[in-house]
Amino acid sequence: MGSDAKLSVFVATRFLEEVESIFASAFDATFATGRDAPLDELARWAGEGRRFDVVLFSLDVRMGAPEIAALPDGVRALATYSVGTDHIDFEAAAARQLAVFNTPGVLADSVAENAIFLMLAAARRATESIELIRGRTWSGWTPRQLVGGQLSGRTLGILGMGDIGQRIAVRAQALGMQVVYHNRRPVPDGDARGFSYRATREALVEDSDVLVIACPSTPETRGSVDAALLAHAREHLLVVNVARGDIVDDDGLIAALESGRIRGAALDVFAGEPDVDERYFALPSVFMLPHIGSSTIEARLGMGRILIDGLASWRAGDAPPNRVA
Ligand code: GLV
Repeated sequence: MGSDAKLSVFVATRFLEEVESIFASAFDATFATGRDAPLDELARWAGEGRRFDVVLFSLDVRMGAPEIAALPDGVRALATYSVGTDHIDFEAAAARQLAVFNTPGVLADSVAENAIFLMLAAARRATESIELIRGRTWSGWTPRQLVGGQLSGRTLGILGMGDIGQRIAVRAQALGMQVVYHNRRPVPDGDARGFSYRATREALVEDSDVLVIACPSTPETRGSVDAALLAHAREHLLVVNVARGDIVDDDGLIAALESGRIRGAALDVFAGEPDVDERYFALPSVFMLPHIGSSTIEARLGMGRILIDGLASWRAGDAPPNRVA
């Protein structure tokens, strides 16, 4: 690659046209056609002598150790169009000396708004309401119909107080909620902003009316919202997940919902998605969305731009903030 040449990028995932068009202008981009598995297409191009500096992809492309080991020579960076990086094996990437980029910040407002949407949906019994009206079985207003709870005056517990967690917190405060949180360590200005730290997940759950999961999926967090943790819950607890499905142990959450141990849940993400545990569909107290946290035009465009900027800065020898390895 000459110094003026554009980075040669294999784009393994299909994006919005607007996003593909900014990638096409910024890079010497080759887009997967979708006719075959994208990494097979990449291997075929490489077999024909094409050289790629970067593979750009999203959550639909797993970059585990075997996939990374099979990447063509010449690939120097992985760019994931996501803030989450749990689909990437970092040890394997380090062994190949690959730089890794993601999309922090630009999607945080979108995901935080989705968290508020889910909190309200759980509190206001959205699944039952939608079924009643769309099922054409609504027989008219009564004071007994579909009584939910307000969020104002309640306590929101946030598991994972990173950028997204903090943006959820300020929105919840605007709704009149108190905010408690658990994180690996307290956020420096947390007290001043009215966020009250809890040193353990159990203490967090004990003090929460609504629990929002906003932490990354890591060996420490995976399966951590389970029956043992939910045994500490108030009986009207609502559990909201905007992070990763595998942080929740489905057996534990479903048992708590089925037994009435907790009141409800609203989930945007699922372990093993797009497959969703069948038992959730039988529970009217569960509101579900198909992983749409960052699905806003603002976030989608921002995610494209931050990868373009990060790769340009890396190429210029700088250390962009969205380089995660
Ligand atoms: C979406 O879930 C992301 O990680 O960006």
